[in-house]
Amino acid sequence: MAHLLVTGGAGFIGSNFVHHVVAHTDHTVSVLDKLTYAGNPASLEGLPGTRVKLVQGDIADAALVDRLFAESDAVVHYAAESHNDNSLDDPRPFLDTNIVGTYTLLEAARRHGTRFHHISTDEVYGDLELDDPERFTETTPYNPSSPYSSTKAGSDLLVRAWVRSFGVRATISNCSNNYGPRQHVEKFIPRQITNVLQGIRPKLYGAGLNVRDWIFADDHSSAVLTILEKGRLGETYLVGADGEKSNKDVVELVLRLMGRPADAYDHVVDRAGHDLRYAIDSSRLRDELGWRPSYADFESGLGATIDWYRENESWWAPAKAATEASYARKGQ
Ligand code: NAD
Ligand code: DAU
Repeated sequence: MAHLLVTGGAGFIGSNFVHHVVAHTDHTVSVLDKLTYAGNPASLEGLPGTRVKLVQGDIADAALVDRLFAESDAVVHYAAESHNDNSLDDPRPFLDTNIVGTYTLLEAARRHGTRFHHISTDEVYGDLELDDPERFTETTPYNPSSPYSSTKAGSDLLVRAWVRSFGVRATISNCSNNYGPRQHVEKFIPRQITNVLQGIRPKLYGAGLNVRDWIFADDHSSAVLTILEKGRLGETYLVGADGEKSNKDVVELVLRLMGRPADAYDHVVDRAGHDLRYAIDSSRLRDELGWRPSYADFESGLGATIDWYRENESWWAPAKAATEASYARKGQ
């Protein structure tokens, strides 16, 4: 049994990981989360207080971070400003949390010798043409497009430097687009599901031909636990489940699964600098560590996600009106 510190554990993917750890190990967990607009303590409801403790605080608070590292065997770092659209409106919090926050954690890992796993994104590699036969691998050059992805790329490079220069015992994973329960309504899939539930037409940026490589969040969590247990120190692992879909196909499937006509959506203003396509080759993780996704059927995963939003309106409704008002101001 070990004690884990999970940063950003009240967010979408971090809370999924905490649920996963409680269900599949006997570890105990401290969650360090600032509870920004994206953090929700309700995402940790139902977990035993004897196993999981929530500490509200900033990953850039060095004194707090130091105290929490002193009592932890390993740290899994999810905390971030995570939304591309927000990073176009106001990049500053992305620098503070994704760069300075990660630096603060790495310095603590260095002082305490703590095993550190850094959660990152496939967006650090930029984008691919729609007809490119190649997918991203661990050796694809970094080429981020947005303020969000450039700060994530910066944080990855800090981790690599702290491994090489100071011997920090770290691994990195770069995952594709997650979907599933407890994702903020600002993001593509929950936005469209909750739009339909509220009688609002789904909104597709531009022509909707952009492709994302979808993975059910539970599969991301099992991959992270596998890397934490068996990953080679200093190594990077790409996480993906072969789930490429165009945004247009996703919106049409949401509408069909919710019993609406497949064309009942609007095209809206495109995202500035919008990455065209992401695609992950996760062979290293599969071949070296034996990981496999368990939820590779997108339609059934999307159906389960729709059911969750139908049944958990109290979780998402408080953020919905303000999120839509902010999109409407930008013509989105
Ligand atoms: P999210 O926005 O849902 O959650 C982020 C969490 O971090 C929130 O709980 C927030 O309160 C917390 N946080 C923000 N700033 C903080 C700070 N300064 N100190 C402490 N806590 C802070 O994000 P998510 O989608 O769950 O993403 C989590 C991580 O996974 C991020 O690092 C993101 O880059 C990465 N990632 C996300 C995806 C995806 O599809 N969502 C895919 C690959 C990687
Ligand atoms: O690839 C991993 C990344 O996936 C993570 O690093 C990010 O944290 C996560 O937010 C996600 O980034 P995207 O920008 O791909 O996700 P988002 O949900 O914002 O958008 C998915 C696609 O849908 C993208 O092409 C933009 C489009 N979109 C989005 C919204 C909100 C729409 O067409 N309409 C919308 O209303």
